[in-house]
Amino acid sequence: MAEIGVDIDKARKLLDQGQLVAIPTETVYGLAGNALNPDTVSQIFAVKKRPFFDPLIVHVSDLNQLEELVEHIPESARQLAEKFWPGPLTLVLPKRSKVPDLVTGGLNTVAVRLPGHPMTRKLLQTLSFPLAAPSANPFGYISPTTVQHVQDQLGDEIPYILDGGDCQVGIESTIVAFEQNQPIIYRQGGIPREQISSLIGAVKVIEQKETPRAPGMLRSHYAPGKPLYLGNIPELLQRFKDQPIGLLTLHKHYSEVPDDFQIQLSASGNLNEAAKNLFAALRKLDGMSINFILAEPVPTNGLGPAINDRLRRAAT
Ligand code: TXA
Ligand code: MG
Repeated sequence: MAEIGVDIDKARKLLDQGQLVAIPTETVYGLAGNALNPDTVSQIFAVKKRPFFDPLIVHVSDLNQLEELVEHIPESARQLAEKFWPGPLTLVLPKRSKVPDLVTGGLNTVAVRLPGHPMTRKLLQTLSFPLAAPSANPFGYISPTTVQHVQDQLGDEIPYILDGGDCQVGIESTIVAFEQNQPIIYRQGGIPREQISSLIGAVKVIEQKETPRAPGMLRSHYAPGKPLYLGNIPELLQRFKDQPIGLLTLHKHYSEVPDDFQIQLSASGNLNEAAKNLFAALRKLDGMSINFILAEPVPTNGLGPAINDRLRRAAT
């Protein structure tokens, strides 16, 4: 088992030695290591059982550190960084050669973000290098939003988990790339599209059916072990009539299903609260003695599209 604690100096020492530490961010917990050390980066891939072609996000302490990693920052990227950093936004920019190819899966771009969690910000400020950190879960599984989630799945593989409490956003960062200088959303996440377009104008979102721009955009992701069906709940209940099922809804309660087998993401229908609870709810359903998880899409304002994206990728 990993040691769990709030000792930033201990985390720094381990990272300085090239070891891995799980770190809290406002979105999900990350599995962090020195982004500029290829041996450390390859350990990250090994612990996650992640294929080498799926690139990692690099976490920086400030804009100066960003400038050391990338060749060029488009004006709209700079505006986004100034407005939303620290926060759940990742920018994909042309990389400098000091960023190891292993980090970027051989791409000539690097994904960078300045996370908002105060503990991890402090840690980054004490380090002399940026941190590569994918979500701290085995490849393809649900991202961790609590210390316990990390301990359960990666505890045997890492020495230390920095305990920053439960993640407040609960879904991963929004990833914005620039193709011919046009901003484009590669992954919907903690910053809603409306907020991005209100700052820099209309922004396209890559649809799932398009060719993945990066392998991490694979269709099946965030997947619980149990088959999840996404659709109209009354119809799904009809279809799975005689089966043990669990329900996931935004706030609706279904009297035909026992209370212990249904989870409402937010009693008041608040999408921020729903995002915060989403991954823990999926894990809880995964652990129930049921055969199927039935879920319905949430409304499409605010964080709704990002939640629905996670549900679609979790679905069978
Ligand atoms: O909120 C987050 O972003 C969390 C926390 C820990 O910061 N991190 C996270 O990392 O979600 P990960 O590895 O689970 O997802 C990173 C995504 C992948 O889908 C990957 O394909 C994409 O970022 N990505 C990384 N570098 C890229 C690049 N150069 N071009 C396009 N996509 C990239
Ligand atoms: Mg992930």
